[in-house]
Amino acid sequence: MNKDPKQAQQEWEKAVEKATHRFPERKDSFQTSSDIEVERLYTPENKDEKYVEKLGFPGQYPYTRGIQPTMYRSRFWTMRQYAGFGSAKETNERFRYLLDQGQTGLSVAFDLPTQIGYDSDDPMSEGEVGKVGVAIDTLKDMEDLLDKIPLDQVSTSMTINAPASVLLCMYIAVGEKQGVSKEALTGTIQNDILKEYIARGTYIFPPKPSMRLITNIFEYCQQYVPKFNTISISGYHIREAGSTAVQEVAFTLANGMAYVDAALNSGLEVDQFAPRLAFFFNAHNNFFEEVAKFRVARRLWAKIMKERYGAENPKSWKLRFHTQTGGSTLTAQQPDNNIVRVTLQALSAVLGGTQSLHTNSRDEALALPTEESARIALRTQQIIAHESGVADTVDPLAGSYYVESLTDQMEEEVEKYLDKIEELGGAVQAVEEGYMQREIHQAAYETQKNIENEEEIVVGLNEFQVDEEVNPDLLKVDDELESSQIQSLQNVKEERNQVHVNQALNDLEEAAQNTNENLIPYILNAVKAYASVGEICNVLRQEFGEYVG
Ligand code: 3HC
Repeated sequence: MNKDPKQAQQEWEKAVEKATHRFPERKDSFQTSSDIEVERLYTPENKDEKYVEKLGFPGQYPYTRGIQPTMYRSRFWTMRQYAGFGSAKETNERFRYLLDQGQTGLSVAFDLPTQIGYDSDDPMSEGEVGKVGVAIDTLKDMEDLLDKIPLDQVSTSMTINAPASVLLCMYIAVGEKQGVSKEALTGTIQNDILKEYIARGTYIFPPKPSMRLITNIFEYCQQYVPKFNTISISGYHIREAGSTAVQEVAFTLANGMAYVDAALNSGLEVDQFAPRLAFFFNAHNNFFEEVAKFRVARRLWAKIMKERYGAENPKSWKLRFHTQTGGSTLTAQQPDNNIVRVTLQALSAVLGGTQSLHTNSRDEALALPTEESARIALRTQQIIAHESGVADTVDPLAGSYYVESLTDQMEEEVEKYLDKIEELGGAVQAVEEGYMQREIHQAAYETQKNIENEEEIVVGLNEFQVDEEVNPDLLKVDDELESSQIQSLQNVKEERNQVHVNQALNDLEEAAQNTNENLIPYILNAVKAYASVGEICNVLRQEFGEYVG
């Protein structure tokens, strides 16, 4: 149905009026350096019919040009740096440093034992405690992690999947201790197990019980934690595993549909949970392909939600996403070059309409970022926001012959993959059959071959090398951390009321045996009794078994 361009424009102008009540535009007017007025939006002069149907106005279905009527003219994307290492106290210091430096959202990196549901004193955790993220064993650690951070003012993303329910409950419990109600908490839990099976690997349970925990979170949050985004359906790691841009979008949206199906099968109505589904993409090399990729993802998801699932609430149609610049593009060689890579990648995310952004640090091919390199990464975002002018008009690349043609072509390729996955029975079956994994491995192989035969130049790696490399200062996680973390876990176990812990874990075990039970209240109870991540996950392991990839 072709919408009258004039009517669409009037609707957009009304939406602008409404949006700017909550988020007034940053300036009364915007000019270029040559004092040329920068309009809020540029559209084809002749307002051709296809323009409205294919692109539409920002904040209007199908959202190709962005999900908000004024986008960054009112509010910049959230500058949300992924951070976490060592103990909760050390990470809390980094969080507060980054907030002081102007970042506008938190993003927690957990260490591998936490991500895979083991306590720091578990033999499986040896050598990994606090290494790639912060060690969280009990609610005491979460209290230390969020100390002096007002949870009614800061939104927090948590990169946690298999034990997502446990960490969400710890966050709720800390909020209550701060006097912040569940209803006021804002943030995101990654909670996306399918991409763990496909690409990242931090899974615990088989698909069925994993999907149960995920939809339990959907159900619980829509009722009690309504401002919390209940999943961050991730393409980032799929791309990091070597997929193409088209595969990144296709496999992510396919996973998204699997979560929607699972939620509907659990008895939820689509508009009850869909507004709080969120996404997470990579900002990789090939600048214009990345910009087009984000626009394809938004337009396709809008159509899927409106046409396939019959969602009626426009918030269910809007694909809201976080972007991280491509970790796998960073080189260990000439690390300062990575600042340039990250800048271009971050720019593609902004011109693609991201809602939240993490910029990688120059040294992350070598170690977790130092304070200085994390600051430069944040400054990169701030310079794009405040100095480049690209945030002063909405979707400035729209109308580019290249970008629009690339957007259309990529959309076609993504739809071919979606049809193929549909034929296989959907994303869960495609994962179990190994289809997505094979496609990604093939793409990764092709890329690696092109780098090795210098078809693809990586500056400083296979071209433009330097003889001597000056090693930069790198962050080192203190090896003593493991023993001190184990000691503090021991202290918590000695101080807590063991009768309450045993009762809470028994109640959880019983509830897990009844598939109609929502396990979140039981996990919240256990967390508040200071049961540990490992203790809670072991009860669930006993009931659900473990996935063998
Ligand atoms: N006009 C009107 N309203 C506006 C606006 C505008 N221009 N801009 C923003 N707003 C509103 C929004 O609508 C929202 O209000 P609402 O919640 O009532 O709708 C509010 O302002 C906040 O804006 P956003 O929701 O757009 O921004 P957030 O930052 O809060 O949320 C998100 C962004 C993508 C929806 C969310 O899911 C998010 O923050 N995700 C982050 C995920 C993340 O950080 N992941 C890191 C993973 S690290 C990893 O996995 C890699 C490792 O493995 C290596």
